[in-house]
Amino acid sequence: MKQQLEQIRTAAMKALEQAASPEELEALRVQFLGKKGELTAVLKMMGGLSAEERPVMGQLANTVRAEIEQKLDASRNVLKAKLLEAKLRSETLDVTVPGTRIPQGHRHPMNLALDEVKDVFVGMGFDIVDGPEVELSDYNFTRLNTPEGHPARDHSDTFYVTEDDEVLLRTQTSPIQIRVMETQQPPIRMFAPGRVYRKDEVDATHSPMFHQMEGLVVDKGITMTDLKGCLEQMVKALYGPDAVVRFRPHHFPFTEPSCEVDVQCFECHGAGCRTCKGEGWIELLGAGMVHPKVLAGCGIDPEVYSGFAFGVGLERMAMRRFAISDMRLIFENDVRFLEQF
Ligand code: PHE
Repeated sequence: MKQQLEQIRTAAMKALEQAASPEELEALRVQFLGKKGELTAVLKMMGGLSAEERPVMGQLANTVRAEIEQKLDASRNVLKAKLLEAKLRSETLDVTVPGTRIPQGHRHPMNLALDEVKDVFVGMGFDIVDGPEVELSDYNFTRLNTPEGHPARDHSDTFYVTEDDEVLLRTQTSPIQIRVMETQQPPIRMFAPGRVYRKDEVDATHSPMFHQMEGLVVDKGITMTDLKGCLEQMVKALYGPDAVVRFRPHHFPFTEPSCEVDVQCFECHGAGCRTCKGEGWIELLGAGMVHPKVLAGCGIDPEVYSGFAFGVGLERMAMRRFAISDMRLIFENDVRFLEQF
């Protein structure tokens, strides 16, 4: 029996030394010390011993049990320390490793172009103003000298919001002229960018929603030369000092006289090419001297005051500025496109 106990001790010590996990330790505890364990099995045979032998063996058995328990504790502690060390090692933070880049967004080319134009007009003392996108047809048409029956008011051109055609999505930023003039006496110098809506099919140069930038100057003694000087200044600031502009007679109901302004094609310098569709010139904006009827309708005396107005397409401007060939790219918001600006 003594031999058996010695064997258990040796086997237990060896096994406990080698145990690699808390689960293994627990299994060994059950194997050696458990109710059905090896030590208990030996103790059960104590009954067959003589009276002298029994206490000696009992003591030895207790010693073996105590030693195994001690070794169990020690092994447990060693394992715990090892596990902690491994955990700490796996969780170390190397502050010298380069960080993960978070991609940062940036400004849309339309906003970049708009800011450039705004800067030009703020530099000339214009106020930047805003107006509603859902507008009264009174402001969008009637008070801009565009009466009922005018083709621009047709349902095929305009998105009406109400059955009675009194409310619509503005087709131009020009109603902002009216909103400013009816609340403000001259001198007026305002610049108003915004979205406008027309029933256009989407293609490379058209969209049912696009942006215009409206300009309006009203004061004593404002003439067509002021209009020309102002717009030439804008074109040169945006396209460089060598840009050439041309003023062409045109018609708008709310300006008289009216004109359209073209910039000479910067690809072919007037010879005609694909960019300008063989024209040599690229249309940029509509403009004119504010119609006396429009001034009077806003309570501004056309005998005392005169003014000029213009409306520029922002998409066109941005497309030219950044050499964008298709307007759809501007609205699709494909990051591969946007990232280039
Ligand atoms: N609103 C006109 C258009 O959309 C442009 C314009 C603005 C013309 C101001 C003259 C004066 O075509």
